[in-house]
Amino acid sequence: MTKKVLTAVFGLGRLGYWHALNVAKSRNAELVSICDVNLESAQKVAADLEVPKFTTNPDEIFQDDTIEAVVIASPTNTHFDLLKRASETGKAIFVEKPLTIDLKESLEIKSIMEQNQTICQVGFMRRFDPAYDAAKKRIAAGDIGEPIYFRGISRDPVAPHESFVKHSGGLFIDVSIHDFDIARYLMNSEIQNVSANGKVLKYPFMEKYNDVDQALTYIEFTSGAAGDVEASRNAYYGYDIRAEVIGREGSIFIGNLRQHDIQILTKAGNTHDILPDFPTRFTDAYTLELEDFFKVVLEKAVPRVTVEDGVKALEIAYAARESYHSGNKVEV
Ligand SMILES: NC(=O)c1ccc[n+]([C@@H]2O[C@H](COP(=O)([O-])OP(=O)(O)OC[C@H]3O[C@@H](n4cnc5c(N)ncnc54)[C@H](O)[C@@H]3O)[C@@H](O)[C@H]2O)c1
Repeated sequence: MTKKVLTAVFGLGRLGYWHALNVAKSRNAELVSICDVNLESAQKVAADLEVPKFTTNPDEIFQDDTIEAVVIASPTNTHFDLLKRASETGKAIFVEKPLTIDLKESLEIKSIMEQNQTICQVGFMRRFDPAYDAAKKRIAAGDIGEPIYFRGISRDPVAPHESFVKHSGGLFIDVSIHDFDIARYLMNSEIQNVSANGKVLKYPFMEKYNDVDQALTYIEFTSGAAGDVEASRNAYYGYDIRAEVIGREGSIFIGNLRQHDIQILTKAGNTHDILPDFPTRFTDAYTLELEDFFKVVLEKAVPRVTVEDGVKALEIAYAARESYHSGNKVEV
């Protein structure tokens, strides 16, 4: 039998459930334990996925030397502690974005991981999405010439629950961070500076957390390219994730609104479905990123999305948030 990575998952909420399912289904991993501070969630997911052990106490996972890898999908403000303990107890780590909620903590965790030689992959799953991946390959092959402009659109149909927003770091750090990462990746360039605007249009409760539900960030790359990143919680019609890279000799459009490639024609008009949510849009990407992670662990290789990528994306998101608050262009 081929070796399987014995894995535990932290956090079984909106996304953690899907990660637990993907670990359970993986040929290269075995889901041996799950942990959620909410006993009911842990119990339910353990029963659904037939996981041998569940707990509400993270210590039980860290003290178990047979567990080789952990997937961290708990709220962003809990990442730092879990990352630190996972690194110190010798686990390989897959951690959801953002790496940590605090930029200083992300630098501290990077240095802890370097000391402990921890394998850690950050959950920027767009890099594994077949459409973004194909775009990356076509850009690298020179099909559109030198990339000179990036446009990213990330719109959620509704705001997440208030308790999530409170610990999310805000729209730039929670949502735009995906586009900041994929922009660096597709454009093959660092982001030099950002100028951001934002507003609360629909969810007044966000004001309590100094957050916004709509934002636009203009970015300039060290390569001389430019771009813009829109983030929104107001796409009532569905989950709308798109991007465009304009090159000197062509342009690549990534993503569309449809889940299935069908149109329904009636006398009332022509309609098609719309992607409803992130688990549907990124089903393949969530599976592929974990498969890649387990291969990396088995081969002791370097992940496609490193801790350094996690830190860089957070630096850009912090700069965007600062620019929104100050009204100034901010160097990253
Ligand atoms: N990559 C993506 O597309 C994507 C999408 C959604 C969320 N996320 C990220 O995933 C993380 C979780 O987001 P979510 O939307 O699933 O949150 P959520 O609030 O729906 O779920 C979080 C779960 O973690 C549990 N929890 C809280 N503290 C914990 C701890 N210390 N140990 C173990 N479990 C704990 C909660 O009880 C809850 O069940 C966040 O960092 C978020 O940014 C990424």
